[in-house]
Amino acid sequence: MEKINAVITGVGGYVPEDVITNADLEKIIDTSDEWITTRVGIKERRVLKGEGRGVSYMGIRAVNQLLEKTGVDPKAIDIILCATSTPDFGFPTTASLIAYETGCHNAGTFDMQAACSGFIYGLETAANYIRSGKYKKVILVAGDKMTAITNYKDRNTAPLFGDGCGAMLLEPTTEDLGVMDCILRTDGVGIDHLHMRGGGSAYPSSYETVDNDMHYVYQDGKFVFKYAVSYMADVAAELVARNGLTNTDINWVIPHQANLRIIDAAARRLEVTPEQVMVNIQRYGNTSAGSIPLCLWDFEEKLHKGDNMIMAAFGAGFTYGAIYVKWGYDGKKA
Ligand code: UT7
Repeated sequence: MEKINAVITGVGGYVPEDVITNADLEKIIDTSDEWITTRVGIKERRVLKGEGRGVSYMGIRAVNQLLEKTGVDPKAIDIILCATSTPDFGFPTTASLIAYETGCHNAGTFDMQAACSGFIYGLETAANYIRSGKYKKVILVAGDKMTAITNYKDRNTAPLFGDGCGAMLLEPTTEDLGVMDCILRTDGVGIDHLHMRGGGSAYPSSYETVDNDMHYVYQDGKFVFKYAVSYMADVAAELVARNGLTNTDINWVIPHQANLRIIDAAARRLEVTPEQVMVNIQRYGNTSAGSIPLCLWDFEEKLHKGDNMIMAAFGAGFTYGAIYVKWGYDGKKA
């Protein structure tokens, strides 16, 4: 029997219209455009406004665009998997809300969470459904409403995050395309250094959790930075080596967009040029699970069938990983 590969056959995305610029932040916290630009590389980020709007609001729009671009009947979708750390609710899942509103009424749905590495973990999971031979059309939605858990009184984290969501369709192929290889890792050394502790089963929401800012992201930036720089580059380099690739074989490196200095370090380690690296952090900030799919969404028209891509991410846990993808089609789907 021929090997079944899982190939990405379309990409959709959504970012909210409202923007928070560095100048806006200068008015509410002790920071400067110069500090944010040079230390992180962000100029502005999107914010989803409107009461009752969660990740599903963005995911529904990303999936509707994906279905329109690919011309796929929503009823043919077998699975919708949503990678997010900021689900609309404790339950039901965000994936079930998205499936209902997009007409994917025959799909099995579930959420998964691997913090900022969610897209890499999600893509490997989605690919495995396809490779099993049982599922023919799987949608991965990945994104976060990070502004919902950002403390705009904390200058250590307020400039970093934004809202956005990507979606992609995976289908089977017997061509040598799609998700080729993946490495997933975790190092618990990060547990105390990057977290949001309130509202889960350990610390259910209470006046105390609110008073102690436990519903916001806490990050010890310097500690996280040190591990992000080495782990993201290490895992990407390991994946490249074990697939026998050289820097000239790689068409695109797509790193999680947390800090331009971390992105540059990964690019240096892989010895690729800036033209080979997808970057949009300056416009969206860190959208957590959304950052890599939003890069693919932004750069879609530049992509060619067979392009070799190395995607790598790092996040709370610390979870991290890298995935090697051979792109499935030419240019932008209308
Ligand atoms: O996406 C998941 C994983 N997350 C990451 O990968 C993020 C990793 N960490 C980082 O990207 C960086 O550590 C940050 C961007 C969060 C911080 O940059 P840094 O260069 O590591 O800054 P720092 O925390 O070491 O702070 C340097 C200085 C401090 O001042 P002193 O103590 O040297 O006088 C901070 O108080 O910068 C100060 N600072 C700020 N200044 C202006 C911290 N935040 C700000 C701010 N504006 N917003």
